Amino acid sequence: MTDLLPPIAMLGVGSMGGAILSGLAHHGAERIVVTNRTAEKAAGIRLDGVESIALADEPDGNARAVAGAKLVVLGVKPAGIVDLAREIAPHLEPDAVVVSIAAGTTTASIEAALPASVPVVRAMPNTPSHVGLGVTGVAGGARASADDVALVARMFEAVGEVIVLDESQIDALSTISGSGPAYVFLLIEELTGAAERMGFTHEQAATMVQGTFRGASELLAADGAEPAELRRRVTSPKGTTERAVAVLQEARLGEVFDRATAAALARAQELAAG
Ligand SMILES: NC(=O)c1ccc[n+]([C@@H]2O[C@H](COP(=O)([O-])OP(=O)(O)OC[C@H]3O[C@@H](n4cnc5c(N)ncnc54)[C@H](OP(=O)(O)O)[C@@H]3O)[C@@H](O)[C@H]2O)c1
Repeated sequence: MTDLLPPIAMLGVGSMGGAILSGLAHHGAERIVVTNRTAEKAAGIRLDGVESIALADEPDGNARAVAGAKLVVLGVKPAGIVDLAREIAPHLEPDAVVVSIAAGTTTASIEAALPASVPVVRAMPNTPSHVGLGVTGVAGGARASADDVALVARMFEAVGEVIVLDESQIDALSTISGSGPAYVFLLIEELTGAAERMGFTHEQAATMVQGTFRGASELLAADGAEPAELRRRVTSPKGTTERAVAVLQEARLGEVFDRATAAALARAQELAAG
């Protein structure tokens, strides 16, 4: 395959890391080595071209994984990131780029645990990466060059779209695209409930609602028009949709989303403060 990614180590491949890994394995890299703590987790990763290490069987597996790796992705929970950085610090290649996907952990806190030459790039992916339709925000730390950031962006393009931004904006991005799949699922749950209360079976309601969300998203992507224009095309003057949309607008959805995203941002700041 052309455009192979350089050797990659992924330390901690759970639900988010797993989504990224499947895209990377499909895209192709010179070498991919991944680690998890338990043998069960490690054995569950069976992808062509991926070596999966269980730390339970090989306690210094993280050190072996990072040897020879140009991209080192830290995919553990935020509370474990700095300890993991400290553990691998002596084993990193001189040209390695460390990538953290942890929510709320700054590049500065990771840089402090690594040799002064090692750049850190922070990434905030989302779960649709599982199906190659992720949105990932990528921000370089103080030591990361434009080339480092571009390389990390190229890696995440294997699982969807990438937005390169300043680290000061990454928590805000997380309130939109990181948490966003949950907002969409909530809307789907609520509209499904409304359909069921109108007398449809759960199966019928799920077909209607999920088909409509998917169809509307695909139409939006294919058409190129703004969502407001596509909405107008469904909304005949004095028609039924117009009445429904008027009721939805009474709920001031824009303000509701402002409050929801502000609450998520406040929580990110609480988590960053420890
Ligand atoms: N879920 C999301 O939507 C999302 C979105 C953006 C970012 N994130 C970030 O992604 C990170 C992981 O979240 P997750 O939901 O994927 O968590 P998760 O499913 O618990 O995955 C974490 C993995 O790390 C492994 N692990 C723990 N300590 C390790 C170590 N020292 N060395 C190597 N592997 C180790 C665990 O292995 P064992 O299970 O074998 O112990 C587990 O498979 C978090 O920092 C989170 O902030 C998540």
